[in-house]
Amino acid sequence: MKLLSDPKYVALTKATWSIFDEYQHEVASSHWRPRYHISPVAGLLNDPNGFCFFNNEYHLFYQWYPFGIAHGMKHWAHVKSDDLVNWSSPTLAMTPDTAYDARGVYSGAAYCVTQENGEQECLLYFTGNLKYENDIRDATQCVATLSKDGVVTKSDKNPLIPAVPAGYSGHVRDPKVFAVGNEYRMLLGAQTEQEKGCVLVYRSDDAMAWELMGELDVRFTNDDDIIGGYMWECPDFFELDGRDVLVFSPQGVAPQGERFRNEFNVVYCLGRADWRTLTFDVEVMQELDRGFDFYAAQTMDNHPFGERILSAWAGCGDPDYPSDREGWSNCLTFPRALTIQDNQLCQRPVDAIQALYAEHQQGEGMGSGMKALAADILNRYRFTLTLDGVQRLTTLSLLATAHESLDLIIDADENRITLDRSGMSSRFAKQWGEQRSVFYPVGETLEIDVLIDGSIAEIFIDGGRLAFTARVFPQSPRSQIELHSTSNIHYRFNAFEISPSVNTAPITAEALVQLDLHTEPTRES
Ligand code: FRU
Repeated sequence: MKLLSDPKYVALTKATWSIFDEYQHEVASSHWRPRYHISPVAGLLNDPNGFCFFNNEYHLFYQWYPFGIAHGMKHWAHVKSDDLVNWSSPTLAMTPDTAYDARGVYSGAAYCVTQENGEQECLLYFTGNLKYENDIRDATQCVATLSKDGVVTKSDKNPLIPAVPAGYSGHVRDPKVFAVGNEYRMLLGAQTEQEKGCVLVYRSDDAMAWELMGELDVRFTNDDDIIGGYMWECPDFFELDGRDVLVFSPQGVAPQGERFRNEFNVVYCLGRADWRTLTFDVEVMQELDRGFDFYAAQTMDNHPFGERILSAWAGCGDPDYPSDREGWSNCLTFPRALTIQDNQLCQRPVDAIQALYAEHQQGEGMGSGMKALAADILNRYRFTLTLDGVQRLTTLSLLATAHESLDLIIDADENRITLDRSGMSSRFAKQWGEQRSVFYPVGETLEIDVLIDGSIAEIFIDGGRLAFTARVFPQSPRSQIELHSTSNIHYRFNAFEISPSVNTAPITAEALVQLDLHTEPTRES
């Protein structure tokens, strides 16, 4: 079989460095560029990968196509941090340069083990993507190690799983490995030959040799919750506050009322897993984020604070984003700490963000009509607002100027919270709708926590019981925050400008660690 030779399947190597270097310098320094969220120096970023704490540092990798805004040849880029908020300049961790990953080093997760001699080892599982002519695909499951000095080396035992199992299409990927007693399990997102999405489970005694156990039977108690879909991607599993949590990204789920409005969405299930019988009894199923741009979430907790931290791609499937014109696409969400409260997974920005607080405005008052809460603020802030006496209709307008605003509409009569980005002048992805609306029991008091960074808004309601992620592309780098209320309301707010903490400067040739493959230079146009 002949590998597909589309121009977008070119790897970043010594031979292609000069093309990339010219391109990354062309990518204008734009006010849409996030400065405390991770985004690519050029090209397209998608899923977070290999998120872990190893050798006293946080490591985060991401899917990266360096030569354009297409979903082309995927590499793993690597950033490091001491505190989850200040991130290093990216380096190239893995290039698709072997026969088993020749059309992309696809997503996966980290597993850190402490060996008998007390040494820690960090294993990075990933999928080798293979795409042949005539729409034929295959996938291999592989591993690499991360050394203490940050070098990623693919194992010479690869591929650990050399092909997709019988009965499944070529879409089997995104390994997540964890221990169950003395054994290991690997979860894979998969599609059956009948185009049904599912999670496949493999077992191993040494985390290297794997045998297929079967499909995870995700048993929904409530018929309305049966998710369906033609492919489930990026499974994650963890225990939190005494509950088992399964997270995955199903594709092909039809909208149901206000739910599943994005092209692709992420769901979490709280319940009970049995890794012997391969069942997951679902007690609660929800979308993880109710905004527009949130996908391929993954979590880690092997760090000194022990909290479960989530990172996700603040993007989704096919939408064209306005920054595509500038030659870069997408960013990751800000790291979020997870808890479970009242049967719900709650998310909030990690507390370490406080280390980045700069200029501060605050205020408190009471009234109805329009109030400018923070005027002429740089679009790089955290804004927290407590509302008391919430009744009727209250709108928080973010990124507001005379020409546009991003509106969070709180309807206390209808118990509904809506995020509306139709008021922004740069409109996109309209075919999936410009509002996301959620039924929510609006109390007298409401807590709103907002992160804005260039072209991303993350909004958390009531300690993160509800989260909305949205890409937004404001005209101006500064704006104001407005509160509009039809009834008398008490408000108290804090607005902190956030210091830049992610290095978005062009990378150097030394950031490429794997330079051995020589491919004909081309750049996707
Ligand atoms: C999810 C995904 C994964 C795959 C990766 C490829 O966004 O499609 O399933 O491994 O992206 O970039």
